[in-house]
Amino acid sequence: VAIEGRAVMLCRSGGELYALDDLCPHSGARLALGSLAGRIVACPLHGARFDLATGACLSPRMGLAAVVAHEVRVVDGWIEVALSETPATAPLT
Ligand code: FES
Repeated sequence: VAIEGRAVMLCRSGGELYALDDLCPHSGARLALGSLAGRIVACPLHGARFDLATGACLSPRMGLAAVVAHEVRVVDGWIEVALSETPATAPLT
């Protein structure tokens, strides 16, 4: 989804909602097109893995920055996302 001009990946995994910038810090792939496994999303291009809750990169050999994670909650059936003030991480390439 786009929120205030920012591409955000919303997903539900393991019964929890998560919101991350929809931008891999490696080469800019859309993480929303990746695969989910528990609390992890794998980038569809080169497979870097990120923690859905924190955005931390779980593929240390790739040396990537974290993806920005946003607070998300459901109120009266509506999903609310509080955008982080942290700027999106620019891709390496
Ligand atoms: S673009 Fe995501 S790992 Fe390369």
